[in-house]
Amino acid sequence: MRIALFGGTGRIGSHVLGWALEGGHQVTVLARDPRELGILARDPGELTVLASDSAGLAVPCREPAGPAVPAGAVTVVTGDVTDPAAVREVVDGADAVLSALGPRGARTPGLLGTAARNITTAMTASGARRLVCVSAAGAFIQADPDAGALVKMIVPRIWATPFADVRDMEAVVAASGLDWTMVRATRLVDGARTGRYRVRPDFPPAGGRKISRADVAGFMGAVVTEGNWVRARPALAY
Ligand SMILES: NC(=O)c1ccc[n+]([C@@H]2O[C@H](COP(=O)([O-])OP(=O)(O)OC[C@H]3O[C@@H](n4cnc5c(N)ncnc54)[C@H](OP(=O)(O)O)[C@@H]3O)[C@@H](O)[C@H]2O)c1
Repeated sequence: MRIALFGGTGRIGSHVLGWALEGGHQVTVLARDPRELGILARDPGELTVLASDSAGLAVPCREPAGPAVPAGAVTVVTGDVTDPAAVREVVDGADAVLSALGPRGARTPGLLGTAARNITTAMTASGARRLVCVSAAGAFIQADPDAGALVKMIVPRIWATPFADVRDMEAVVAASGLDWTMVRATRLVDGARTGRYRVRPDFPPAGGRKISRADVAGFMGAVVTEGNWVRARPALAY
């Protein structure tokens, strides 16, 4: 499958990249700094940089720590997701588009909404239909039938700005007419991919409060491969 990936340098996205490469998929990834991708392969006797940019040039990587992947498996487009031309270049020819973007301390206000507009516009133009995005269960806590009154009062105030961005992203994606899945993660933690977690439509499973980034990435890969949870908002938690 030809996969377009946004956020591939991030903590969920690097797991998504690993999933795609392990599965033998062809990946085009957007990166503001391609050195953060750390994709390397073992050539006879030595580690060599495997990623190439859209002009076919090798991209130097900062850490010799990535998975070994076949030459040409990854194409890196250097750019910012707020640039519609860069997004079009990544999406062009993709069978499925995965986004694990995150605002990185709100350095780009409204990042997720802007990205959603650029990605869905590019997909509509290119004919790509399958889109899987990381979303946040907390942004919808006020409608959650299992959340307590106090939590509903406090959490939306603390995270008002990022949650508004998440809701904007979901609204844009839901209106796109594409075959989307919005993966509503509960609190993200680092940790191993377990493959053992609960999934519930729209709201976290009762009592579920956290999920590892590796498990979110594994779920994103699974829904692409299996073609399920289309036009749905699965929420993940242990
Ligand atoms: N924190 C939580 O508990 C929680 C809970 C539920 C859901 N979430 C959601 O999880 C996501 C964050 O996951 P994460 O921990 O994997 O995030 P992360 O490690 O911070 O990664 C964010 C990714 O987005 C990229 N990015 C940011 N701004 C960009 C731009 N302008 N252009 C291109 N790429 C850009 C970053 O690239 P660079 O390497 O260039 O910065 C990086 O690859 C967010 O969408 C958040 O809403 C978080």
